[in-house]
Amino acid sequence: MDLRLLGALGALLCVCCSIEEGSAYTFRTFMGAEIATTAISSSAVVQRPCECRALCRDGCVAVAIRRQPPRNFHCSFTEKTIADATTNLMVPASDSRVFYKRLVCRANFTLVDNVGCIYVSTVALNFTAAAASCPFDSQLFAANFLIDFDAMREYLLTNFTTSGTFFWIGLIHAPDSTWQWLGGGTIAATHPSPYWGQYDPNEPATVPSCGAMLLNPGLSYLYHLADASCTKAYKFLCKQI
Ligand SMILES: *[C@@H]1O[C@H](CO)[C@@H](O)[C@H](O)[C@H]1NC(C)=O
Ligand SMILES: *[C@@H]1O[C@H](CO)[C@@H](O)[C@H](O)[C@H]1NC(C)=O
Ligand SMILES: *[C@@H]1O[C@H](CO)[C@@H](O)[C@H](O)[C@H]1NC(C)=O
Repeated sequence: MDLRLLGALGALLCVCCSIEEGSAYTFRTFMGAEIATTAISSSAVVQRPCECRALCRDGCVAVAIRRQPPRNFHCSFTEKTIADATTNLMVPASDSRVFYKRLVCRANFTLVDNVGCIYVSTVALNFTAAAASCPFDSQLFAANFLIDFDAMREYLLTNFTTSGTFFWIGLIHAPDSTWQWLGGGTIAATHPSPYWGQYDPNEPATVPSCGAMLLNPGLSYLYHLADASCTKAYKFLCKQI
């Protein structure tokens, strides 16, 4: 490619990228994550991070961007969706960011950055009924990482400020006593924990207990996890698949 043409292409990318950077809401961003090797469908080396996003087209659902010294950027593209629970789509990587193409949320779902499309129920139900009542194509919210858990906490803290509010989420106390996310993954019930409030889980073993996010600033529960009897009626959080 001759230099003039290259210059023109650069300018073109500049325009496309400045537009794309301007609309900050085209992608959901996960800091400190890389696409798992098994999920990468292709990759590229570019000069600016925005070019990675510009190259994520058609079947591409997400791109991971990391610096490639001395002055380039490496993009890894995946065509697998985040809902594909059979594969570990993302792995932690401190020097990398993953950008997911933004979903279009259905009616009554709100786009929460770094989480996805979220439905907050208007009615309070017990856990079983709540899990069965998420709108079509959604399920009780389960965090993939601390990143989306914290993003959900931030969202709830801004929008639901009544102390003592519980929301059921997709976290169950399995028969083997571990705490499992619906859809895969477990979290330890040890302290200090970035997930659990300091006094939870604390239901007696004789009571079937389920996982909720609780606001109780006096106890430093800023929508941290608490367990509660699964028969209690709480509002619940669903996530579009
Ligand atoms: C959204 O919520 C409103 C009010 O609860 C309800 O009337 C409407 O049917 C809902 N829309 C969809 C697509 O579920
Ligand atoms: C949540 O709070 C933010 C910031 O106050 C606001 O912009 C947004 O509209 C609220 N979302 C909902 C669903 O209430
Ligand atoms: C949960 O609520 C549903 C509907 O209100 C009810 O039929 C069911 O018996 C309840 N289950 C438990 C375990 O409380």
